[in-house]
This record gives sequence, C-alpha cells and structure tokens, in this order.
Amino acid sequence: MNLLLTGAAGGVATQIRPLLLERYGSVLLSDRVQPEALQDGETFVAADLGEPDQIDALMKQCDAIIHLGGVSVEAPWQPVLEANIAGLYNVYEAARVNKVQRIVFASSNHAVGFYPRDIVIDHEKPVRPDTRYGVSKAFGEALGGLYADKHGLRVFNIRIGNVADRPIDRRRMSIWLHPEDLVQLCAIGLEHPDVHFETVYGFSKCEPAWWDNRRATELGYQPKHRSSDFRDEVLAADPPPGPGDASEIYQGGTFVLEP
Ligand SMILES: NC(=O)c1ccc[n+]([C@@H]2O[C@H](COP(=O)([O-])OP(=O)(O)OC[C@H]3O[C@@H](n4cnc5c(N)ncnc54)[C@H](O)[C@@H]3O)[C@@H](O)[C@H]2O)c1
Repeated sequence: MNLLLTGAAGGVATQIRPLLLERYGSVLLSDRVQPEALQDGETFVAADLGEPDQIDALMKQCDAIIHLGGVSVEAPWQPVLEANIAGLYNVYEAARVNKVQRIVFASSNHAVGFYPRDIVIDHEKPVRPDTRYGVSKAFGEALGGLYADKHGLRVFNIRIGNVADRPIDRRRMSIWLHPEDLVQLCAIGLEHPDVHFETVYGFSKCEPAWWDNRRATELGYQPKHRSSDFRDEVLAADPPPGPGDASEIYQGGTFVLEP
C-alpha cells in the first residue's frame, strides 16, 4: 500500500507517525508546513489543500489516504471553507481521477456536538454540529458518501474524540482516543474488505460512554486503552461543573459556546 498521510505536521499526525511507519513500512507525508524529524521510510511533499494541482500531484503517488489536514478547531468561515470544504473536495476529486482506493477521513465529535451527554448516540443518528468546524466535518462525511456510492472509493469516516496519551479532563473521560487505538481504526479503514462507506466513533474504552460504536466493533475494533484507569486523578483535578453550564450539557463541550 502506498499510504499518504495529510496534515502530517499536526498534533495527531505527530502521535501516530511512528505507529504507521511500524505497520506500513513507508508513508508519504504531506502538509503545507514541514513536519519535524523525518524518519527512514517517511517522505515529505509540501502541498496546500486549496491548490488542486498540488493535490493532484500527491494523489499520483498513493493508493490510500489518511486525511488529517485542514482546520482542526472552530475558526472563521473563510479558512474553514478553503481547507475543509473546497480543500476536501480537491482531495476527493483528485483521488477519483487518480484511482485512489481508500480514504480514512478524520471527522470529529463536533459533527454531533449538540447532542446532550445524557443520551447515547450511534453512527445512524443525524449530525448535530456545534460549530462551523463541525459543519465542515459533517460535509466531509457526506462528500465521502458521494465518492463511495458514485465512484467506488472505499471511505471510512472516524468521528474522533480527543487524541492523547491520556484523558486530560472530565469531558475527555468519555471521548479520549489513545493513538494506538486510532491507528487500529485507521488500519480497519485501510484494510478491511467490507469497507464501502462507514462512519464510526473514534474513542478508546471510555466511561461514561456517549457513543454506541457497534459498527466499529462489527468491523473488528477492540480498543486497548481505558479511560477509567485515569479516573481518580482526572476527576480530582477537574471538579464537577456548576448547574446550568451549557458547555457541560452538550457533548461538544465549550465548542457549543463559540460565537
Ligand atoms: N486533535 C484531536 O484530538 C482531534 C479531534 C477530532 C478531530 N480531529 C481532526 O483530526 C485532524 C488532525 O487534527 P490535529 O489536532 O492534528 O490538527 P492540527 O491543527 O494540529 O493539524 C492539522 C494540520 O493540517 C495542516 N493544514 C491546515 N490547513 C491546510 C491546508 N490548507 N493545506 C495543507 N495543510 C493544511 C496544518 O498545517 C496542520 O499541520 C483534523 O482534521 C482534526 O479536525 C482531531
């Protein structure tokens, strides 16, 4: 597999690059800024998602993509539009033209951030974005559906919670994703023969869980890391919220308060 990792200079990519290299032997990295500390087996090609020619040149060099590149938090509309809407279209269109086989898309919990925390949602619930950023992820999931159903790409959307070595606060106890578990999900998206168009949740074994991840389980996902191992220290450092705090009612946390 000739694997391309976009957003390769970013926080998530930096955490999973060693694991991808171990599993796949070589990885083509791309970003608009140079990633640090390239290893044997890693090649970097600079490209801006907003430049179709640059993205087309990238797609000629791969047959599978983990797409992490783009705006990764709430932002004004213009950068979201350029990177996550038009930029993602450039990725899918170049993938189609160059017959790329598979795309793993880094979607986000913020595509469903306006669901309250006291209900459990699955992959079949309609999106409820909490931000312009969340809307762009909902768009990205839908765009993947179009290219899967119309053009035969195999598309795997992962609604990522929060990628880190450990849950960093009370909210992350429910949505934390260890980098090893993320790579396990990516491998399902890149390798599983039944993947046509899938959307799964990207979290480790978390309590309390807000997401029913049965589709990921059906495809073989078995997270190795559990948030409850960190419960005492996380809850001691992050006291319970006061009543009526909207950022504690909804799954998207403080993103629901963004203007
Ligand atoms: N960090 C998390 O826990 C988390 C949670 C949910 C979803 N995600 C998603 O995972 C992906 C990676 O997240 P991250 O935290 O590493 O983000 P990040 O902001 O650290 O990295 C994103 C990378 O994309 C690159 N980029 C931005 N615009 C670009 C453009 N126009 N052309 C080329 N490259 C561009 C940036 O240079 C950056 O290196 C994002 O798509 C994000 O939405 C991350």
